[in-house]
Amino acid sequence: MAEHVLVTGGAGYIGAHACKALKAAGYIPVAFDNLSTGWRDAVKFGPLHEGDLLDRASIDAAFKAFRPVAVMHFAALSLVGESMKNPGRYWRENVLGAANLADAAVAAGCLSFVFSSTCATYGDQDGVVLNENTDQLPINAYGQSKLAIEKLLADFEAAHGLRSVIFRYFNVAGCDPEAEVGEQHVPETHLIPLMLDAIAGKRDALTIFGTDYNTPDGTCIRDYVHVSDLVDAHVKGLEWLKAGKGSRVFCLGSGDGFSVRQVVEASRAVTNREVPIVEGERRPGDAAVLVSGSHRATDELGWEPQRSDLATMIGDAWRWHQSAPYDS
Ligand code: UFG
Repeated sequence: MAEHVLVTGGAGYIGAHACKALKAAGYIPVAFDNLSTGWRDAVKFGPLHEGDLLDRASIDAAFKAFRPVAVMHFAALSLVGESMKNPGRYWRENVLGAANLADAAVAAGCLSFVFSSTCATYGDQDGVVLNENTDQLPINAYGQSKLAIEKLLADFEAAHGLRSVIFRYFNVAGCDPEAEVGEQHVPETHLIPLMLDAIAGKRDALTIFGTDYNTPDGTCIRDYVHVSDLVDAHVKGLEWLKAGKGSRVFCLGSGDGFSVRQVVEASRAVTNREVPIVEGERRPGDAAVLVSGSHRATDELGWEPQRSDLATMIGDAWRWHQSAPYDS
């Protein structure tokens, strides 16, 4: 009998890709989602359980119905800029939601928990190598909320034996190479999909947020990792917990940093079209440079990113962008 895995946010961008990877690995992914930002059309690889992490009863019902062997927790508000304008929402929905979910998991005896955290928990540490041992000094409410959940999981392990694998993502990009699922946000705020919209004429131009950072070309540098590689690491993290290994944190990035201008240039090369750009102000909450300096996921999980070069990520995103997007 295939085992179930409860995937919160399973109708969202990364969660839907995780469901695909879980199904390919022989699991039945149960997408737990309130469809506030996710898409019914993205749930293709297992059942959808509509519920809300602020409604404990709906979480308990999912555990009762499916008896999952593990939880993968993706559901969260995740926009740096929005979190600076409305921090209360981020603390409430992300932190309370995670507390409800962890409580429900413990009550159901489901003690394996894979959590999506973020390099935004590091803040802006000029010149410091970012790995699992780096101090966490978030500069935005989004990063604060994710750091709080990391601490919550440590408390749950001490009190209840809940073991966790925590992944700190760098910038997730690209889409399923088969374009079965993809990236679709309303409103869209992320660099690559916004750029593809500008290239396709769906918006006038891409605004570059800040050209006076202390970087070689003045624009922010990020470490982009392909969503398919990222979710492969999650399956490996799940196997790690199932093998009885202890809680562990892993950074997930390619280790290479690219400036916004370099991403613009790569998009021009991949699509063979001009990218209309406008130079704008800095966006509050943005760090100048976020690049992974970790090898732990490769060394300990055997994770080998396959598609995390810029051209492949943009090419996969472009293919999805041109195919039929989700309707509902
Ligand atoms: N950017 C622009 N113009 C835009 C959008 C983005 O110049 O219209 C820039 C940003 O300033 C940033 C870079 O492109 O320098 C990437 O921005 P994204 O909004 O695509 O991604 P973020 O770095 O803000 O955040 C993402 C995820 C977070 C995660 C973070 C880790 O949304 O969940 O990566 O860096 F925590």
